[in-house]
Amino acid sequence: MNVLFVVAEMAPYATSGGLGDAIAGVAHALARLDVQVTVIMPRYQTLTELGEPGPGEGPARSLYEHRDNGMRVLLVDDPESFDRPGIYGPEPGSAYEDEWRRWGRFCQVAAALSGQFDVVHLHDAQTAATALLSSAPTVLTLHNAAYPVMAPPDEAAELFGDESVDLLEWYGEANYLKAGILAADQVTTVSPGYARQIAEDPEVSSGLNDHLGNLLHPLIGIMNGIELRRFDPRTDEAIPAQYGPDDLTPRGESRDKLLAHTGLDGSGVIFGMVGRMTGQKGLELLDPVIERLIEAGLRLVAVGNGDDDERVDAWVARFPEAVWHAPYTQDLARLVWAGGDSFLMPSKFEPGGLGNLYAMQYGAPPVVRFTGGLADTVIDADTEPEIANGFGFDDYSSDALAASVERAMALYRDQPERWAGLQKVGMTTDWGWDPAAARYQWVYRRVLERNK
Ligand code: GLC
Repeated sequence: MNVLFVVAEMAPYATSGGLGDAIAGVAHALARLDVQVTVIMPRYQTLTELGEPGPGEGPARSLYEHRDNGMRVLLVDDPESFDRPGIYGPEPGSAYEDEWRRWGRFCQVAAALSGQFDVVHLHDAQTAATALLSSAPTVLTLHNAAYPVMAPPDEAAELFGDESVDLLEWYGEANYLKAGILAADQVTTVSPGYARQIAEDPEVSSGLNDHLGNLLHPLIGIMNGIELRRFDPRTDEAIPAQYGPDDLTPRGESRDKLLAHTGLDGSGVIFGMVGRMTGQKGLELLDPVIERLIEAGLRLVAVGNGDDDERVDAWVARFPEAVWHAPYTQDLARLVWAGGDSFLMPSKFEPGGLGNLYAMQYGAPPVVRFTGGLADTVIDADTEPEIANGFGFDDYSSDALAASVERAMALYRDQPERWAGLQKVGMTTDWGWDPAAARYQWVYRRVLERNK
């Protein structure tokens, strides 16, 4: 089977958060199942050294081709749209005003190639509208429904044709995500929990819940994974000493290195946070309780940027021995998973959640809010002690967050054996992509069957 992945991000070429990791993970896992995946993505400013100009005419003339472990990666050369500093906007968390035009043009190129494939797999709002023009059956995966792409209706009709106007129509504007949801042959998302949530909750679904809840072929939630080949503390070269679930002593070297790097005081309990610092991640919950938690021992290493950076930087200014913040680099992320004692993810909503999986894989039991994919993967130490791998709370409130952080700190300090038990469960669970890839393959088969 030949599948075209239409994406805005793919690790290691372009990533802003979990999306790029997820794309690389699913694509490689599908390749192991003998699905031929070709990825098409923009030729961003940072990628102009990558790939060779491809032969061809028409839209194909703008394609560069690169090989990633045997997988074809096509880069769409459209300098007017993509020769810019950022993926979505000039700063993390910002958006270019002509988002609709850049992605509209990108969708057109992808659709022009669609006929060469059995299935076209679209990811998120930027690429969703490809479904309007695709000549092959389409699957749309929602990694995050909170970022729709809106266009002026007349221009959208020009890009996607007059027949698409009704599907695009959204309160006087054109909505690529809505159109993709209605036009795709199957919609999926990245965890079962989030699938239920976006079919009901207008806030997390950008108001698309009614559409998502009334699809002819109901929304399917397929839990994300992580690339075990690339993220394994037994073989990870980026951390000072490798380790596996049977002996966690070498983790101490990562902890020491993390402390030396951040200058934080090591007497506390180190909580990592890795990802986009945005409203979605629930940072606001920490504000009212952070001082008291720091007094009780909380140390926070925050890695990543976003529109909530100021909040984190204000903590750093107030509590320089206890809070540290730096831009994302993969090596730093690995050091935080390996050297942090725990990992904090109090997300307001979380479609899949990868940080929690990396943290568990590296032996840092996470503290999460039970929402979306976090509720599908984290098991609380007090409610289900036999199989637990972390801590969680339901209420989106500062008190609930503080209570769970306090429980985690108490267990870490007073009951090291139980703590080691949480680490062991997290590290010996298979978080790989293979089960997800098998389910995507099944989805492709169903879609092909329906389109026969
Ligand atoms: C987005 C979501 C995150 C998910 C990732 C990959 O970044 O916010 O929850 O894990 O996409 O699917």
